[in-house]
Amino acid sequence: MSTREDGDSSLGWEHIYKMKYTWAVTCETMRHVAPLQGTFREAIADFSFAGFTIPKGCKIYWAFNMTNKNPDYFPDPERFDPSRFEGENGGSHPPYSFIPFGGGPRMCTGRDYARLVILAFIHNFVNKW
Ligand code: HEM
Repeated sequence: MSTREDGDSSLGWEHIYKMKYTWAVTCETMRHVAPLQGTFREAIADFSFAGFTIPKGCKIYWAFNMTNKNPDYFPDPERFDPSRFEGENGGSHPPYSFIPFGGGPRMCTGRDYARLVILAFIHNFVNKW
């Protein structure tokens, strides 16, 4: 964890933007255990999925954990590996494959604030304790 050039270890914006590995660890943690386990939707048309026919109007529970551990997108999904989220734009994952904050029009509007709070918490936790 870096400190300012003047030796002050308090957190500034420049630190938040540099905490890429900490965010990769956070993402991998959320991939393993999504803070929100899933959410409900209503089918707006009949459709088929995995051999099941889902009729229009049916309530559907969308389980984030199942998507976040799909081995097609995250090989060896039970392994804790923050490097999955390193690199350009936090790793290359297809759209809607990593969804701790949901996706699409109802995606979490607080996600950037949540990121700031999580990184500030980890910074203070590691530096002070
Ligand atoms: C780690 C922290 C957080 C996680 C994992 C999280 C996760 C989510 C998820 C998965 C959804 C989508 C629900 C859906 O599709 O039905 C959502 C929606 C939402 N979140 Fe968060 N959230 C977090 C923090 C926050 C914070 C800090 C705020 C506000 C300051 C916030 C405000 C909202 C709002 C307003 C929505 C509804 C968006 C909409 O329906 O258009 N969230 N969140």
